[in-house]
Amino acid sequence: MTSIKNPIFRTEDLCAYYRDFMAIKHVTVSIPEKKVTAVMGPSGCGKTTFIRCLNRLHELTPGARITGKIYLRDKDILKMDPIVVRRKVGMVFQRPNPFPTMTIYENVLAGYKLLGIRLPKEVADRIVEDALRKAALWDEVKDVLHRRGTFLSGGQQQRLCIARALAVKPEVLLMDEPTSALDPKATLQIENLIVELKSTVTIVIVTHNMPQAGRISDYTAFFYLGELIEFGPTAEVFTNPKDPRTEEYLTGKFS
Ligand SMILES: Nc1ncnc2c1ncn2[C@@H]1O[C@H](COP(=O)(O)OP(=O)(O)OP(=O)(O)O)[C@@H](O)[C@H]1O
Ligand SMILES: [Mg+2]
Repeated sequence: MTSIKNPIFRTEDLCAYYRDFMAIKHVTVSIPEKKVTAVMGPSGCGKTTFIRCLNRLHELTPGARITGKIYLRDKDILKMDPIVVRRKVGMVFQRPNPFPTMTIYENVLAGYKLLGIRLPKEVADRIVEDALRKAALWDEVKDVLHRRGTFLSGGQQQRLCIARALAVKPEVLLMDEPTSALDPKATLQIENLIVELKSTVTIVIVTHNMPQAGRISDYTAFFYLGELIEFGPTAEVFTNPKDPRTEEYLTGKFS
């Protein structure tokens, strides 16, 4: 497998369980910093479970546990405060999920509220504008910041969720099929945004959409039945897969 110098994440013999069921099997991989890594593979192969290990969401599922190591730079995240891990490693889900009772402005600052951090108004204003600009949403919402986030379109709501994740200045953004609920135009906007964001934040994105992975990702990790079968530069994995199962998936033999 491709070796990565100075990775932001490194797992060693990572296994993840739901009670007795082993969903992730002995995964050793390094995730490159400030790149987009696509996580691919057939339904049920462990993509969501894998990324949820990386910010310690996995352990919130009753009966779930992890063995092995996960390092964020040189720090063992399994020994860190999970709240700190989740601040450094943000997440965007498949369905846009802005907090329904909060305004756009409050949604962007929700991470600070959860952390119990109170910000002076000027600082809060600056964080909101900065995060919404990074999420390519500022121009569309700057005059309606105090309306509910849920009145926005699906694509705008997803960019609001990206802004909310970016507001606490994470080092990594995990995205679980972030465009699968969106129309093609909103999908393209998010793809463009992902490509822009990678200069400041490392992105790990689960996607079933091969053309999308080809357009936006630098590296691809291919999972099959909980194992990491292949990892490498996307162009190489796509054009010259080393494992027959990767090739079968890429040529649509199973989905
Ligand atoms: N909460 C849970 N309890 C028990 N088993 C689970 C749970 N969540 C997932 N699994 C099992 O773990 C395996 C991996 O699931 P996971 O959701 O990570 O797959 P995935 O690759 O993200 O699939 P999809 O493409 O359908 O989203 C599957 O066999 C699934 O049934
Ligand atoms: Mg999934």
